[in-house]
Amino acid sequence: MNLADYEAFAREHLDAPLFAHLDGGAGDERTLRANRAAWEALTLRPRVLVGVDDVTTATTVLGRTVKAPILAAPLGFQELVARGGAAATMRGAARAGVGAVAPTISRATPAELAAAAGGLHWFQLYCFRDRGITNELVAQAAAARYDALVVTVDGPVLGRRERALRAGWEAPTDLVVTATGLTVDELNRLVDPGLSWRDLEWLASFGLPLVLKGVLTREDARLAADHGVGAVIVSNHGGRQLDGVAASAEALPEVVDAVAGRLEVLVDGGVRRGIDIAAALALGARAVLVGRPVLWALAAAGEDGVAAALTLLREELATALALLGCRSPEDVTPAHVAWRPRPDTP
Ligand SMILES: Cc1cc2nc3c(=O)[nH]c(=O)nc-3n(C[C@H](O)[C@H](O)[C@H](O)COP(=O)(O)O)c2cc1C
Repeated sequence: MNLADYEAFAREHLDAPLFAHLDGGAGDERTLRANRAAWEALTLRPRVLVGVDDVTTATTVLGRTVKAPILAAPLGFQELVARGGAAATMRGAARAGVGAVAPTISRATPAELAAAAGGLHWFQLYCFRDRGITNELVAQAAAARYDALVVTVDGPVLGRRERALRAGWEAPTDLVVTATGLTVDELNRLVDPGLSWRDLEWLASFGLPLVLKGVLTREDARLAADHGVGAVIVSNHGGRQLDGVAASAEALPEVVDAVAGRLEVLVDGGVRRGIDIAAALALGARAVLVGRPVLWALAAAGEDGVAAALTLLREELATALALLGCRSPEDVTPAHVAWRPRPDTP
């Protein structure tokens, strides 16, 4: 019926430590809870008698057409959830007509994941201390003709995910990221905490448009625009990095305002319903990314599950647009949404 059903299935069928790793967040999970609460704090303001007999969810993201403003988020370790994990997600997203971001942390190579993709596809990059490894990864992504390079910038060090630790989750030490020949364990120790704005020029030199994933402030949004970045993803890594940061829906308006149309803004974190996507569009997002639900769907039925879950979300968005009085994502405006007053405000 909906994405929550996939979650219930995954909770029941996956090993408890693995589920805790997928589901949990950092610290007290304040940000993880805030992500959902923020979407729920938005009320929609529908317009009537618009004439919505020809609604489309189709739009473009960085110039490329998608059937809906949705992308499967980059998710490490998908091979632990289902056989062929990340490749199955790329195929499932393609079948649903939405975009997909291939993760660095996968058994499949960038070329294999690109071959499994069928539409908009980006490659997510972790930058390593060893510039040789990073160079090799980006060169592979460029050769595989990804549409963009997504640099994850909210993980100079790993957040402490207590729920996963408590449940006894241990990252598999033997899962090799084929593209690098190193285990995940080795790579985690190699992520470069020294990455800075100066490195963007080098990353841009490979010729792929750059997308920064994990921007939460107007200050960084402006810097991103000044550095010629193509898009930013307003994201707190699904509440898995710095606990206590703003919910992504709360950070979205200030980022949209700061970039003033100079680049595209996407958002992720707690997007579970078509109405969440409609609200994101109203707040100025070009598209959303969906993280955990993809993993639940992968656990339930592999590629078919991902295709079905993302199609469901697309259909929910179509219904939401029609009921909002919008014929397409472009028709959604800031006037279609309002923040519910906080309970403690008089
Ligand atoms: C299990 C798991 C693994 C993830 N792995 C990565 C990753 O390798 N790279 C990355 O940039 N983000 C990663 N993320 C963050 C997601 O891309 C995305 O930002 C987040 O899941 C969105 O929130 P949601 O799960 O509430 O939809 C991961 C998230 C989860 C839950």
